[in-house]
Amino acid sequence: MHKTVKDIVDMKNKQKISIVTSYDYTLATLCDNAGIDVLLVGDSAGMVMLGYENTIPVTMEQMSLFTSAVAAARKNSLVVADLPFMSYQTSVTDAITNSGKLIKAGADAVKLEGGAEMADTVSSLVEIGIPVMGHIGLQPQTTMLTQGYKVQGRTKDAAIKLIEDAKALEEAGVFCIVLEMVSHEVAKIITDMVNVPTIGIGSGLDCDGQVLVIQDMLGMYEKINPKFVKKYLNLSQDIVSAVKNYKQDIETKHFPAKDNMFSMDETEYEKLKKEIES
Ligand code: KIV
Repeated sequence: MHKTVKDIVDMKNKQKISIVTSYDYTLATLCDNAGIDVLLVGDSAGMVMLGYENTIPVTMEQMSLFTSAVAAARKNSLVVADLPFMSYQTSVTDAITNSGKLIKAGADAVKLEGGAEMADTVSSLVEIGIPVMGHIGLQPQTTMLTQGYKVQGRTKDAAIKLIEDAKALEEAGVFCIVLEMVSHEVAKIITDMVNVPTIGIGSGLDCDGQVLVIQDMLGMYEKINPKFVKKYLNLSQDIVSAVKNYKQDIETKHFPAKDNMFSMDETEYEKLKKEIES
């Protein structure tokens, strides 16, 4: 049986929660095998999988496809899928309909961006049995439009707004809250103040868990290089040099080698040659 929302909530104050984003079957299988707690089908897929400038163009159809690929791969992790821009801000009914689509595609829970203004939407989803992960601080779907990538919660007033948003989300029933690019002082205050786990991305060590975009931590996505990312591999270099080697092997006839080919039965081959000659 895979992890449940309750398992994740119960980890608060006991064990740190590990999350990576996942969008495809192959990488999701590897992350699940590695024992990661949550596979997040983030709308960052728009950037790292589809080459968009930001997450705004991502559609429900795309998120449903990525979610079904990740759900097919997972054996142990919890699967959470992002509601894309304008799939839930328009009305509570849209939020319910679209969350239902992601759950049908295989997600165990959905994530949406926003603080107190999203409380009614969150409680409506939770009431009908759809678990919700909150997301405050830098909210790529909207903060980008107004401020660009900027650390959140650096002033007293901004910090108070973030704390109020976290409390409103908790009251509305989220099972955990992502804090993106929040100053580490504010992330700690929120983490101590709420009973649900906080998940940091660029928000310091005191959060109950951490999330990174898988392409960032594997060193595969070179378009942006945020300070909060730790690269555990430098796969882009390795992949480019592997593909160069492959190209060279083709050109110099070192690939395919004997081991990579299939042969006919020898006697059948002799018969075939005779028949062609005659
Ligand atoms: O879309 C995403 O990948 C996210 C995480 C980085 C939190 O929202």
